[in-house]
Amino acid sequence: MCGIVGMTGERGAAGSVYERLKLLEYRGYDSAGVASLDGGKFFVSKRRGRVYSLGGEIKHLHGHTAIGHTRWATHGKPCDENAHPHVLGKFAIVHNGIIENYAELQEKYFKGVQFNSETDSEVAVRLLNYFYDKDPLTAVKKTVDEIAGSYALVVMCADFDGIIVAKNKNPVIIGYGNGVNYCASDAPALAGLCDDISVLSDGDIAVLTDKKIEVYDGNLEPVMREKLKNPALCAELDLGSCPHYMLKEINEVPTSITKTCQAFICTYDNIKSYLSGIKRIIITGCGTAYNSGLIGKRYFESFARVPVEVETAGEFRYKNPVIDKKTAVIAISQSGETADTVEAAKLVKSLGGKVIAVTNSPYSELTRVADAVVPVEAGQEICVAATKSYTGQIAALYLLALTLCGGDVEAGAKKLVAASELCFQLIQRLDICTLADACARSDGVFFLGRDLDCAVATEGSLKLKEISYIPSEGYPAGELKHGTLALIDIRTVSVVIITDEYLAPKSLNAVEQILSRKGKVAVVTNIKDVTKKLDGKVNIIEIPDCDKYLSPLLSAVVVQLLAYKTSLLLGRDPDKPRNLAKSVTVE
Ligand code: AGP
Repeated sequence: MCGIVGMTGERGAAGSVYERLKLLEYRGYDSAGVASLDGGKFFVSKRRGRVYSLGGEIKHLHGHTAIGHTRWATHGKPCDENAHPHVLGKFAIVHNGIIENYAELQEKYFKGVQFNSETDSEVAVRLLNYFYDKDPLTAVKKTVDEIAGSYALVVMCADFDGIIVAKNKNPVIIGYGNGVNYCASDAPALAGLCDDISVLSDGDIAVLTDKKIEVYDGNLEPVMREKLKNPALCAELDLGSCPHYMLKEINEVPTSITKTCQAFICTYDNIKSYLSGIKRIIITGCGTAYNSGLIGKRYFESFARVPVEVETAGEFRYKNPVIDKKTAVIAISQSGETADTVEAAKLVKSLGGKVIAVTNSPYSELTRVADAVVPVEAGQEICVAATKSYTGQIAALYLLALTLCGGDVEAGAKKLVAASELCFQLIQRLDICTLADACARSDGVFFLGRDLDCAVATEGSLKLKEISYIPSEGYPAGELKHGTLALIDIRTVSVVIITDEYLAPKSLNAVEQILSRKGKVAVVTNIKDVTKKLDGKVNIIEIPDCDKYLSPLLSAVVVQLLAYKTSLLLGRDPDKPRNLAKSVTVE
């Protein structure tokens, strides 16, 4: 949700910032911009569109200090004027977050002044100039003291050869290089540039020059922030022979499962101790993370007979939830930075509850809030649509549920590894083109299933609508006749997932109901009898037979590849769906 990069100490810093910004485009791609500082003068290039659109101008941005921004629009439409950096007077800034009181600040300090953009961010650059009196650090401090809301704010001042970074509720890391120092929204931007990073805390202000980095807390007292190994690897950011990150990441689903198992075994003792005495669980998260929670609920309830509620974090955090010492809240987030999920976790802590984070991001805000962390080892996920992190989350939740019930976690991990091998085989052989073609030509796609299959149906629908823009709904097969059947006609496709033998006859009823209304049907199944009954009547996507509880891993791969192929047939960019960004760090 907006990507920021800054560096100081490198000749041609703007060029490096430009290249590094490309690695953060998953955070937003409505507009892009870079500003550099040379001899007290700013040079700027910014415009609506992707980072590469700046390419021709970057060589004209001189100096060894530069900042850059790739935007996901919150306040103000995507256009050249609203693109960051905002440069005015003595300051140039890039901002990620929302200045909630920008209108009040405008009224208080700049009444009658014509602003150059529609952004909330512009008020920050105006405040910096307003408060500036030869000391840029004090100007930054006075500015952030006025701001209500969230920010990762990166500032250049014409009189200071360096960068100042302020942070509140939006992620920002600093990187320690050799004669060059860096800041960025996320580690991939610094992959290969520096070995050590620090994660800034809320209220921190960091001052970067080519020689050193100083960090101050909210009272401008110097503080030390732990140096951590930069987790981002250049190799992970390389597309290799894949045309898109989404396909690359689906190919990495098997590894995400096996690596998550290994990591779980390593942290098992620690995790186990946090689960003792738990009598109730609330799972929370957003989007795909919420959907993996739906599967987790089934695991906890079946294996441990512990009641589980699953609620989207955006709802949960405003519901005055009932939390007690025997309740564990499991907060699931790939990025560990999703504002609603992080705030939900903070709420639980403030109520004296326990938070267990299930996350793919070891240094994220969520890990700092949580009592315990269950690692998802999916590796860096770049595509906005979550794929390998979803399957990694399912693996982690499966093992967590086994831990809670005192089950054999090593045996569980072996089953997961076997399922990951089946996923690998399925990815190699799956031909989903006919179904993708039908979806691409349809007016709407429905995903149906019962129990665990219903949870995957929900995720399949999210994936498809997110990257193909086809209207879609995922819902329980039994609900079809209670309303949605009215939407079924020859122009719709229904994808019915059937992997539970006991429930198969019920789901087959739904198939017949759709066929009798002339709707097109595809069935994803590993049940021979289902294939036999439907042969010649519907498009059947056979998946390998495996443990009932782990079949979601296989049907997930099918719905992910279906969304990917459909998106391509419609000429969309599956990695960068319109209007969206990864890591939603604003409300
Ligand atoms: C998934 O395809 C989506 N892009 C989105 O729903 C995502 O899962 C959601 O924003 C939560 O993100 P998180 O896991 O990083 O918290």
